Amino acid sequence: MEVPFELASPTHLQVEVTEDCNHSCFYCYNHWRKGESSRNYMNLYVAEKVSDIIIQDIKPFIVTITGGEPFKNFETTKYLSEKLGKKDISIGINTNLTEAKRRDLEELLDINKDIYLLVSIPSVKRENYRKITGRDNLQKLFENIKNVSQIGIPIYVNMVAHQLNKDEIFEEAKFLLEEYGVNSFAVTPMLRPALRTLDKMDLNAEENKKIYEDLIKLRNDFGMNTAILEVVPKCSVPEELRESLIFSRGCSAGKISSAISYNGDLRVCAHAPFSHGNLLEKKFSEIWENMKPWREHGYVPEECSGCLEIPECKGGCRFAAYEEGQLLNKKDYRMTSPVKIKNFSKHLKLNIEDEYFATPFKFRKERENQYTLNNKSKLLFTNKETITFLEQIQKKGSFKISEIPEGPLREKAIKFVNILYNKKFLELK
Ligand SMILES: C[S@@+](CC[C@H](N)C(=O)[O-])C[C@H]1O[C@@H](n2cnc3c(N)ncnc32)[C@H](O)[C@@H]1O
Ligand code: SF4
Ligand code: SF4
Repeated sequence: MEVPFELASPTHLQVEVTEDCNHSCFYCYNHWRKGESSRNYMNLYVAEKVSDIIIQDIKPFIVTITGGEPFKNFETTKYLSEKLGKKDISIGINTNLTEAKRRDLEELLDINKDIYLLVSIPSVKRENYRKITGRDNLQKLFENIKNVSQIGIPIYVNMVAHQLNKDEIFEEAKFLLEEYGVNSFAVTPMLRPALRTLDKMDLNAEENKKIYEDLIKLRNDFGMNTAILEVVPKCSVPEELRESLIFSRGCSAGKISSAISYNGDLRVCAHAPFSHGNLLEKKFSEIWENMKPWREHGYVPEECSGCLEIPECKGGCRFAAYEEGQLLNKKDYRMTSPVKIKNFSKHLKLNIEDEYFATPFKFRKERENQYTLNNKSKLLFTNKETITFLEQIQKKGSFKISEIPEGPLREKAIKFVNILYNKKFLELK
């Protein structure tokens, strides 16, 4: 059963191996981006120290290597991919994929068979791509997507949506599916970056609605795995679309995820422009303790009081359009009004004779009888009994609700199976 508790450390880390980048996307949220690209790199000394702390103290399920552009620091990217991968941590690389050489990609797969890429593709039209990124290297990106699919590294695409590309979403996804077999396609509606003012390039409610509809249509028409990658306040989403599977993320900063800078600074998320402490100078547990208000709804804006979405959304992105000296509990500019009605139970129409199997999962102990389970795409906060239940199904091969005698126990089992099925820990045979 899902139980409320506090994590002992993040389950997902972003590690910024460099602040350098060959692109200059106008919307980039990197807090150091103020004109010229920064030349800071994580050296192997810092990478060794940080990775030891990740393995011994943080124990995340997933590490995303990011930047800047991680292929600008291939040595450290490779080092972390190999060392952390050997400890059964899933490694993803977030990249614009224009700096990688084919032999780099081959080498990565050689040292880590489970590695995957999260590739940013802001447009597949040459002129628009150049306007957005400041570089005319779309052809190189296409070459590398081809390389990646030949080599056999799984690829997930992310497209940041704004005024320049809002009408290209459906078309881009279809093109990538047909040309390169890309089946996982995410869109992130552009967030106004912290500490920088941009011309108004983000989308209004009506334009965002069109994006949600495009993503739902891509799922329905082509079976694509589509998603939105950053927190979108549910109050800003039309009611009829709120329960769609494309919305899977709340604000996870300092609770489920954190970011590590090139020099070992730990921040609550990649958008955060300030650090809570340096991992080479302070114990991880001390820095994590400094982040406690992030886990206790400490920065939820007053305007959100009474909203049923607070546990997930926490008032939206705390760093979107964040200005120097502002309070962290300022209202997200996309927020409308607190959500008062919510469809909590996405109940399955369960047939008690349906057969379920348990999917592979990893788990981590947080405290006495508090465990976090991870099956690559979802987390479940639970107890030892759930692990035993799933392991028994794995051993036995399958499970039917009808195996449980009618009565209160079966009623409880139905609710439990619903949660496990919604979170993909159980699937239908
Ligand atoms: C800062 S980039 C670093 C990794 C790599 N250079 C890339 O672009 O994929 C990390 C991710 O943030 C996304 N991103 C950057 N600025 C954003 C913004 N203002 N709003 C939403 N997503 C943004 C990028 O598209 C990318 O997927
Ligand atoms: S490629 Fe990534 S890091 Fe570079 S400017 Fe674009 S979003 Fe920022
Ligand atoms: S009212 Fe606040 S917490 Fe609720 S959905 Fe909107 S931004 Fe999120």
